[in-house]
Amino acid sequence: MNPSSSEDGTIALCASSELVDGGRAVSFDVCFAGENCRAFAIRFEGRVHAFLNRCTHVAMEMDYQPDQFFDDTGQWLLCATHGAAYRPDTGECAGGPCRGGLVKIPLSESDGVVHWHTASNLQPVEFDS
Ligand code: FES
Repeated sequence: MNPSSSEDGTIALCASSELVDGGRAVSFDVCFAGENCRAFAIRFEGRVHAFLNRCTHVAMEMDYQPDQFFDDTGQWLLCATHGAAYRPDTGECAGGPCRGGLVKIPLSESDGVVHWHTASNLQPVEFDS
């Protein structure tokens, strides 16, 4: 059971104030295509975006320090391993060894809360209790 989920497939992720433009990400877990993965949400140019934390070069987590994905300019999301760069709004590969774009997770923001949206291949992780 996930106490923060609702029947329409939107799941509360964090407070809007936790996501600062070009700043630290908020990480969360998803089950993507039957596999448990890390994901992260960021804010860029005022809007919130989320992606699987899985580089398209080698399927590894990308943050060089926990929840740090942006480069110094706050314009690109970087993979720490070999320096692939992704666009923060679309996840598209913008340079380096990436092969295609990051998997995007739909988000919405209302009343000061950010939610992520499930899809047929994107579900909350079931925790054993
Ligand atoms: S694993 Fe990300 S650039 Fe190589």
